Amino acid sequence: MKALQDKIRQEGTVLSDRVLKVDSFLNHQVDPELMAAIGQEFAARYAEAGVGKVLTLESSGIAPAVMTALALKVPMIFARKQKSLTLNEDLIVKTVYSFTKEQKNEVAVSKKFLSPGEKVLIIDDFLAYGEAALGMAQIVEASGAVVAGIGIVIEKSFQNGADKLREAGYRVDSLARIASLADKQVTFLEE
Ligand code: G4P
Repeated sequence: MKALQDKIRQEGTVLSDRVLKVDSFLNHQVDPELMAAIGQEFAARYAEAGVGKVLTLESSGIAPAVMTALALKVPMIFARKQKSLTLNEDLIVKTVYSFTKEQKNEVAVSKKFLSPGEKVLIIDDFLAYGEAALGMAQIVEASGAVVAGIGIVIEKSFQNGADKLREAGYRVDSLARIASLADKQVTFLEE
């Protein structure tokens, strides 16, 4: 997606060979127009997939996920990392390990928002090692719903998440695919 690649080039900061900072439009401040365009792009790609719900993980997945859900005219759910005072009944909980942060998170979704047979589009901001997406896919499957696909805003193709998800049989759609962050440069896979 060209507008996203342009934004990454203009505003992204390469922090190391493995980490890209995009806090001016995705991870802290959010660019609503870009998020709307991202939502429309995912919605177009999944227009024929019969998606009934969009699922993401708090917090940075929420902006692209809600815009995707708006474009598809379906609800969006965000899996929670923090225990909620009001979210206490019938949870599906999975443990997700983050290689980037070297920590485990329990992520939870209330059973009542996922129905057996329903097609769920998973959206996330970054794909690194695929653990968050796999955890969300396991939550969907534990509820009896079906993963329609996994939509990623920024895929770091030099880490193994995309391969892992495709090998597990999931459709993966990434709007920007980064081949390398070496030498403080962002190189996209298509280049
Ligand atoms: P994985 O799910 O693909 O295995 O990735 P990993 O656990 O390694 O990522 C952990 C967190 O770090 C995630 O955010 C992910 O979005 C983020 N992340 C991974 N690589 C990068 C990167 O190169 N740049 C940036 N900016 N973020 C990256 P999170 O902990 O869920 O945080 P948030 O959603 O609350 O912002």
